[in-house]
Amino acid sequence: MFSLFCLLTDRTPKCSFLGTILPNITSQPGSASYVGQEANYWSNQQAETLPACRVQPQSALDVSASLLITKFFRCPFAVKSGGHAAFAGASNIQSGLTIDLANLNIVQVSEDRTLTQVGAGNRWGEVYSQLDPLQLSVIGGRVASIGVGGLTLGGGISFFSGRHGWACDGVRNYQVVLADANIVDVNEQSFPDLYFALRGGGNNFGIVTRFDLETFPQGDMWGGMRIYPITANASLLTELYNFAKNAPSDPDAALIVAFAYYEGEYLASTDIEYAKPIVNPPIFNELMAIGSLTSTMRITNLTDLVEELNVANPSGLREFYTTATFRNDPNLQSKILEIFMSEVTGIKDAEGILPALIFQPITKDIISYFSKNGGNALGIAESDGPLILMNIAIMWSSSVDDDRITAAANRAVDQSVALAKFMNLDYKYIYQNYASQGQDVFAGYGAVNQQRLIGISKKYDPEQVFQRLQPGYFKLSN
Ligand SMILES: Cc1cc2nc3c(=O)[nH]c(=O)nc-3n(C[C@H](O)[C@H](O)[C@H](O)COP(=O)(O)OP(=O)(O)OC[C@H]3O[C@@H](n4cnc5c(N)ncnc54)[C@H](O)[C@@H]3O)c2cc1C
Ligand SMILES: *[C@@H]1O[C@H](CO)[C@@H](O)[C@H](O)[C@H]1NC(C)=O
Ligand SMILES: *[C@@H]1O[C@H](CO)[C@@H](O)[C@H](O)[C@H]1NC(C)=O
Repeated sequence: MFSLFCLLTDRTPKCSFLGTILPNITSQPGSASYVGQEANYWSNQQAETLPACRVQPQSALDVSASLLITKFFRCPFAVKSGGHAAFAGASNIQSGLTIDLANLNIVQVSEDRTLTQVGAGNRWGEVYSQLDPLQLSVIGGRVASIGVGGLTLGGGISFFSGRHGWACDGVRNYQVVLADANIVDVNEQSFPDLYFALRGGGNNFGIVTRFDLETFPQGDMWGGMRIYPITANASLLTELYNFAKNAPSDPDAALIVAFAYYEGEYLASTDIEYAKPIVNPPIFNELMAIGSLTSTMRITNLTDLVEELNVANPSGLREFYTTATFRNDPNLQSKILEIFMSEVTGIKDAEGILPALIFQPITKDIISYFSKNGGNALGIAESDGPLILMNIAIMWSSSVDDDRITAAANRAVDQSVALAKFMNLDYKYIYQNYASQGQDVFAGYGAVNQQRLIGISKKYDPEQVFQRLQPGYFKLSN
């Protein structure tokens, strides 16, 4: 129905029509605003992608108008919130139209302080910096510059997930521009099927212009980063295992365990967070007893914690993310570390390389919220938990190394999954927010949910605008 050929690029000067209709929000290649917006992606692969033009809507109505125009010209488009998806084409589009939501940036707390309207172009650091002074918070990302849009539509792991679930479980209402350009409020009452679909459905159902997020009292926390010698690997994985199992006994606790190769040596690290201002809560006793090289553990606020993690994830580099999910077993996780290290051996000479293997638990208390308010689309049952989410994240400097680095990371995932299958410890779920371009995210939600999502997409998007005209990121069927 739509050819993937953008009629806008045919015009000289490019995008002149869009520029005439929406002059205040359209940026042409070479302009300062186009160049500035292009610099606002996390990975260089996305920053090097050059759309025919960019629009920066000021309102949901502007988003609706942009969608109508791009449909009229049959111009493929991409939508960007925080621009942290790693691979080219995820939230930017070569020779198409990029709709950049950065100016949809309201953060508005309701009078009764139970709901915050968050514009879809916000980054989490900005949201928290406005909520912290009010002693309030929402379920969102753990790194300041991550966008609200992508994180929330794919799931969204938060420091508060033990008590509140993932970010998608904390959305009470979505303001959405649908495929026909109508602007609607999607919640459990108005459109229960679409509400379900948006809780994990990514960019497949509409352009969300505002998220109305459940809001709760939140004061200072305890947390920080600890770095360990790699010899601590086995004890750290044992503590990860214990934590994943025991977490429901203390839903204020959150943990990430990671291993990285940095400047010639392997190191291990933890992010330990506790949602109350309590130093050394008992659930972390054994973990805190493992000797660390450095530690930033302290009582502080959420804004400060997400700023700390931002420093460890600079933009302006080449990036690759890939993922898999496993059962909770320290022996498997330890073997996966060996697989990771053996693949790193072949790529560690790449300029500026920093490969990391990151484990995070999906605990039973977290999963218990996945069925709240009609349930989310992720397809994970509480009886499946606890699970361990693996993320391989690699940054490097030069594009000449792209192919061998992605090949090594893909081999590490394939071998890890094969081993897990052999040990009967595999699990179907592929986390959208960490997945690489080729991974079949929606198959991982299970056949029933995948079919349900496809049905909802056909109902609200009969022309399949978001499948065909928005080719980037994860589509409902491969
Ligand atoms: C340094 C770093 C830290 C991270 N930390 C966390 C974390 O703590 N927890 C976690 O769960 N994940 C985390 N992630 C993963 C993160 O959730 C994903 O990268 C996510 O896609 C980022 O969202 P974004 O809005 O910044 O990305 P974008 O690249 O802007 O968007 C990602 C995708 O979502 C679509 N999209 C975005 N907004 C909308 C919208 N409003 N309507 C329709 N479609 C939209 C885009 O079209 C695109 O396809 C992290 C990633 C990085 C790189
Ligand atoms: C959060 O913590 C930082 C660092 O200690 C501090 O500078 C900032 O003022 C705090 N913000 C609030 C709202 O308390
Ligand atoms: C990981 O821990 C085990 C058990 O303590 C140890 O034998 C091994 O050497 C460690 N691995 C590395 C790379 O240090």
